[in-house]
Amino acid sequence: MVKAVILGAAGGIGQPLSLLLKLNETVTELALYDIVNSPGVAADLGHINTPAKVTGYLPPKEKNAPNDGLKNALTGAHIIIIPAGVPRKPGMTRDDLFKINAGIVRDLATGIAQYSPKAFILIISNPVNSTTPIVAEVLKKHNVFDPKKLFGVTTLDLVRASTFTGEISGHDSRDIRVPVVGGHSGITIIPLLSKISPSYSFSKEQIDSLTNRIQYGGDEVVKAKDGAGSATLSMAQAGARFADAILKASVKGEARLIEVSYVHLDADKDGGDKIRATVGLDYFSSTIELGTNGITKIHPLENLTAFEDSLLKAAIPELRENINKGVAFIKEDS
Ligand code: NAI
Repeated sequence: MVKAVILGAAGGIGQPLSLLLKLNETVTELALYDIVNSPGVAADLGHINTPAKVTGYLPPKEKNAPNDGLKNALTGAHIIIIPAGVPRKPGMTRDDLFKINAGIVRDLATGIAQYSPKAFILIISNPVNSTTPIVAEVLKKHNVFDPKKLFGVTTLDLVRASTFTGEISGHDSRDIRVPVVGGHSGITIIPLLSKISPSYSFSKEQIDSLTNRIQYGGDEVVKAKDGAGSATLSMAQAGARFADAILKASVKGEARLIEVSYVHLDADKDGGDKIRATVGLDYFSSTIELGTNGITKIHPLENLTAFEDSLLKAAIPELRENINKGVAFIKEDS
C-alpha cells in the first residue's frame, strides 16, 4: 500500500498535481486535504480508472474542534506533498508570502509530526528557503525529524533550466540536465551551466542571460497571469516528477536516483559537511542520491567556474537570512 497525501489539494497547483499523482500507478491511495473543495476534487478524480483510491478531507467547521480531516488524511502516509498557501502577485517576492504561509506550513507540519512522522515530506509552499526549515523545526520539537526524508521542492528551477537552455543549444530539452543549486528565490537560485549534460559551451552573454532567466523565470509567469497567481501547471508537473523519483527509489528500490532538492545538510554527513564548509549554512539545494529510506548521498560542490562562484557568494547572505527567519519563527513560537 502506498498512500500519497496532498495538503492544499484544491488549489492552482494542488488540482493538477493531484491529477498527476492519480495517474501514477505506484500510488494505491491518494488523500486530498484542503480548507475548501477537496471532497469535490476527490470525487472528480475518483472516476479515473487508475489504481489509486481517492479520498477528500476538510478541517472541522467548529473553530476549536479536533482536526480529524487532517488526521485521517495523514494517517498511514508514505509521501506528503504540501502546496498549501498563498501564491505571489505581480511585484511580490517569495519572502512577501512568509507572513501567511509560515503559519499554514507550521500547522500542517504539526499534524505530520503527530500522525505520519515517518513519511517523505515535499514542501512546495513558498518561500521554500524558509518553509523547509520551519517544517524541520516543528519535527525536531516533536523528536521525529529525519533529514533524509525532508525535501524543499526546487524541481521547477531544473525544468525551466532544461527548457531555456534547450532553446539555445538545440538539444532535446527532455534530455538536458542542469544542476540548479542554492535555494529557490531570485539570486539564491544558482544554475551550474558549466555542468550541463549533454555538454554545451555557452558564450559569456548566453550564460548571463540564461542565468537571469532561470533565476527569474517564475516572474515571467506571475506577470503573464497578471494577478491571478504564479506557476501552477508547470509546478504540478515538476512536483509530480520529483514525487515519482521518491516513489521509484523508496517503493520500487531503484538505486542511485539522482535529483536536486533543498535539503538539510545533515541528510548525508559526508557530502553535507563538505558543502557546509563552503557555504556555512544548514540548508542548501543540492544534487542528491535517493534510496529506499530517502537521501543516501549529497554531492559536494566541485569545480565551480569563477562566475558560478560569484553567484554562490551573492546567494549566501540572502539564503542565511531566509533560513534564520524560518528557524526563528518556530523557536519564538515555543
Ligand atoms: P492557490 O492559492 O491556488 O492554492 C493554495 C491552496 O492552499 C488553496 O486551495 C487553499 O485553500 C489551500 N490552503 C490554504 N490554507 C490551507 C491550510 N491551512 N491547509 C490546507 N490547505 C490550505 O496557490 P498555488 O498557486 O497552488 O500555490 C501554492 C503555493 O505554492 C504558493 O505558496 C506558491 O508560492 C508556491 N509555489 C511554489 C513553487 C516552487 O517551485 N516550489 C512554484 C510555484 C508556486
